[in-house]
Amino acid sequence: MNISALDLKRQIEPIRNELDLAIKNVIDNTSFILGDSVRRFEENAARYCCAKYAVGVSNGTDAIALSLLALGIAPGDRVICPAFTYYATAGAVASIGAQPVFADIDRDTYNISLKSVEKILASKKLKVKAIIPVHLYGQCADMGGLLEFARKYKLKVIEDAAQAFGAQYRRKKAGTLGDCGAVSFYPGKNLGAFGDAGLILTDNKALAEKLKILRNQGNKNKYYHMVLGRNNRMDTIQAAVLDVKLKYLDQWNNKRRLVAQYYNNQLAGLNIKLPFVPEFTTHIYHQYTLRAPKSNKVIIDYLHAKGIDSRVFYPVPLHLQKCFKYLGYKRGDFPEAEKAAKQVFTLPISPELSEEEKEYIVVTVKEIIHG
Ligand SMILES: Cc1ncc(COP(=O)(O)O)c(C=O)c1O
Repeated sequence: MNISALDLKRQIEPIRNELDLAIKNVIDNTSFILGDSVRRFEENAARYCCAKYAVGVSNGTDAIALSLLALGIAPGDRVICPAFTYYATAGAVASIGAQPVFADIDRDTYNISLKSVEKILASKKLKVKAIIPVHLYGQCADMGGLLEFARKYKLKVIEDAAQAFGAQYRRKKAGTLGDCGAVSFYPGKNLGAFGDAGLILTDNKALAEKLKILRNQGNKNKYYHMVLGRNNRMDTIQAAVLDVKLKYLDQWNNKRRLVAQYYNNQLAGLNIKLPFVPEFTTHIYHQYTLRAPKSNKVIIDYLHAKGIDSRVFYPVPLHLQKCFKYLGYKRGDFPEAEKAAKQVFTLPISPELSEEEKEYIVVTVKEIIHG
């Protein structure tokens, strides 16, 4: 059997006609930059998240960078982010000239550790301006604790909800708890575009207006540039595609939860750590991530040999990435992030997996864990 981590053809097929029609409408209208499709998707996405405003942008990385700019984060300012996340969280910080300050992660959830953040904030040497909690794999970081820190230390909070569109922290959607939330619609995300796209959620009207200006070359009225903006608009065809797919998102996320439940039941009792979901968050299982007792390498190799597309998100924590060497971190600085990088591995969890595929995956994982 060959089971890929992501089979978009299976997802697209049942709604292909609707998608084709949405794309055709954009072409018929020749309204290729922003226009009705982007506005409509922004309204629907804001409604879905119970956010006052949603600003469509070019991708999730730019969503973070624009959020930082709009919140007044300037070159040289320090911004806390987890050491264990996708490159773009910290890459966006560095891209505006600010300095990422890494924190370790919680052993159970893989999200940013409150203890580690508190240690950084308590050390008066580092004047931190903002924090970017990442809702890794599709479940929310401990926003209650982080928002308390934000109040105490006057920090801006930008949620990196790239992997968690639709997840909830208590009764609020990921991305709506901080000053703003950045979302990615990279094709492999639970809600994926047919190319790059992203979104910024906020309840702050002035911030939303600033973001709209920043994403569009600093224009409020064409050719009158108020600020140094960028070309970070959401692509109109992507907005049309996303607007169709948004209607199916909850259904797809529920199916992912069922697959996760099946894995949890079938793999319970084995010598591997199952995903831990704290009471304050729901999980949309962008990734179903397990933790091997020692090294993920042997397990991954075995699963690959058996045709199962298991992945490691992420094999190198950010403080050990070459591109961040200039920040001066070293091995051993963030032990939990380093351990996780060696031990985590995913199982395919797309909503379209067949019963036969799920069973095969479970049997194969049991083979390698039991030895
Ligand atoms: C945690 C995280 N942050 C940021 C991004 C960046 O999103 P994009 O690829 O849309 O720029 C991603 C996407 O992979 C992500 O997973």
